[in-house]
Amino acid sequence: MSLALQAALKEKTAAVETMLARLIPEIPEAEGRVFEAMRYSTLAGGKRLRPFLVLATADMFNVSETAALRTASAVEMVHCYSLVHDDLPAMDDDSMRRGKPACHRQFDEATAILAGDALLTRAFEVLAAPSTHADPAVRCTLVSELAKAAGPHGMVGGQMVDLLAERKGRDHLGLDVSAITRMHQMKTGRIIGFSCMAGAILGKAPPQIRHALQAYAHDLGLAFQIVDDLLDVEGDPARMGKTQGKDAAAGKATFVTLLGLERAKEQARALGEQAISHLKVFDEEASLLRDVVGYVLERQS
Ligand code: IPE
Ligand code: IPE
Ligand code: MG
Ligand code: MG
Ligand code: MG
Repeated sequence: MSLALQAALKEKTAAVETMLARLIPEIPEAEGRVFEAMRYSTLAGGKRLRPFLVLATADMFNVSETAALRTASAVEMVHCYSLVHDDLPAMDDDSMRRGKPACHRQFDEATAILAGDALLTRAFEVLAAPSTHADPAVRCTLVSELAKAAGPHGMVGGQMVDLLAERKGRDHLGLDVSAITRMHQMKTGRIIGFSCMAGAILGKAPPQIRHALQAYAHDLGLAFQIVDDLLDVEGDPARMGKTQGKDAAAGKATFVTLLGLERAKEQARALGEQAISHLKVFDEEASLLRDVVGYVLERQS
């Protein structure tokens, strides 16, 4: 990882964690338990890739720090909600997340469901607040784009296809490469896409610039999920902070089951190169976005 990326990751992660802690306070009232579970699932661990992408692109368009940090925190809240629900017994039934017991193990299932619901709704409350941006049209675009990325045409839809594929996998009727590509694009790519676009929305960047970022995010998001599938097979569980081998145990069709390890790695590398090529409209200002591609491909967690 480049020194510049290392420093930027450290600095931006700390800033977003401070903002998250402010946006999700500890409260003494009876409902404090749901705040506790929200804080448990957002404040410790995680690579913070999505907030990093928001902050790195916001820097390219001179967006105010508060606007960028609030938007980055909202995306991370939606991401954390998706992880809390993904780990539930009715979904992946996972006991570990970010090196700690999953939310439903630390608290209980009902609390984990509520904490996920609350993270999702709090995220939109944060985006809609005037302190996120003075222009209501910008706030409205943020709300609508994140809703599309997270909803039934995006992350939730991808999760549905993923669960159906698991059942089909058991009957040896798994998805083919194009169906898996579509599923990855929905369940992981769309929120990564929003993360790369949010800075451009906040900074009112022109359409041509937005298209370049969209194309970059498309390839980065897909590469990211292929690496997630690869780590599930050959990662180090201690470094990953989550259980390994879940996809195979669940009979899931993944890029690895379809292409084998080597071709899946090759595919991730090719997508990484393609992602960088979409940034040629930018100069030095996109150097962190270029560096983050290598980080996504080489990550061990
Ligand atoms: C895990 O996301 C779920 C996927 C979409 C593959 P991350 O690998 O970004 O998880 P954290 O945020 O670092 O824990
Ligand atoms: C989950 O994908 C993607 C989400 C939208 C939460 P996975 O089920 O592969 O994520 P991990 O491996 O549990 O983090
Ligand atoms: Mg899952
Ligand atoms: Mg999972
Ligand atoms: Mg996985």
